[in-house]
Amino acid sequence: MILAIETSCDETAAALIDAGGCLRANVVSSQAELHARFGGVVPEVASRRHLELISPVVQSAMDEAKLSFEQLDGVAVTQGPGLIGALLVGISAAKAIAWARGLPLIPVDHLLGHVAALYLEPVALEPPFLCLLTSGGHTLLLDVQEHASFRLLGTTLDDAAGEAFDKGARMLGLGYPGGAALDRLAREGDSSAYSFPVARLDGLNFSFSGLKTALFYEVRGLESGELERRRADLAASYQRAIVRALVERTLQAAEKIGAGQIAVAGGVAANSELREALSGAALAPIELCTDNAAMIASAARYLKPLKLPGYLGLDAYASRQLA
Ligand code: KG4
Ligand code: ZN
Repeated sequence: MILAIETSCDETAAALIDAGGCLRANVVSSQAELHARFGGVVPEVASRRHLELISPVVQSAMDEAKLSFEQLDGVAVTQGPGLIGALLVGISAAKAIAWARGLPLIPVDHLLGHVAALYLEPVALEPPFLCLLTSGGHTLLLDVQEHASFRLLGTTLDDAAGEAFDKGARMLGLGYPGGAALDRLAREGDSSAYSFPVARLDGLNFSFSGLKTALFYEVRGLESGELERRRADLAASYQRAIVRALVERTLQAAEKIGAGQIAVAGGVAANSELREALSGAALAPIELCTDNAAMIASAARYLKPLKLPGYLGLDAYASRQLA
């Protein structure tokens, strides 16, 4: 039985997975409301909140699975990328639990975690596959040949797709984080009302900054009171442009590497239009798209555990070079 902890951004999460890969508990406590009035995640506020939540969240996962700490075989934790202060809370908690019980520790990369959400039931995907990993921090096309590693095929040159959703939502007055709210509003709008640009770059890379600027000028050009009337059309057209960019590039990448299977993971994979456009792909279940510890537990099954005392010096990383 592995206990997994995830605190890389503004979700405090703990999960338990058994040796057969079956999830026994999955608890996520979101801090989104706490950060909403700042219009984004405030790192120091996030760290302090993680500190308050980590023990109760771990305990409620243990309660949900009806397990005691004696029954654990290892502790997994997100090491990075993410907010350093936030990551350190999870890492410190994981080290403390592992050390107290003499258990091995399994550091997990957050991006590999998002991919590993696809290994869980009911998707239960097996490599090889092409993965579109699209979240608030990353937009990546990955060639996944083995469970625990991947090769980078393409990435965003500026904003991540989730960031484009959140910034667009903010311009439309939808609050933070606005991706899901924009998705809902877009359903009421006409996606052909506005023609937003889809960046077409060389290779398999993405760019969303031009699109964001285009929305800014459209919103700024509206007479007062008109925004309310055009909001759903703007949301639908803006979302269409993001989804188009993601789908086009993903299909190009699949063709380029001759992928037999396409998969989609990460927070933006919860988007209804993207799910419909790639309905033939393996889609991570919606509750496992946004940050959670179940995906960290899933990745941990394929990684080498570190023994005591080697892991006591383990540190977090904010970002990493993707090869
Ligand atoms: O994977 P995630 O929870 O955190 C990171 O690792 O970044 O992704 C969060 C991102 C946010 O930008 C959020 O707005 C976006 O995923 N998101 C969505 C939807 N649900 C969450 N974007 C578009 N449509 C959605 N339904
Ligand atoms: Zn994430």
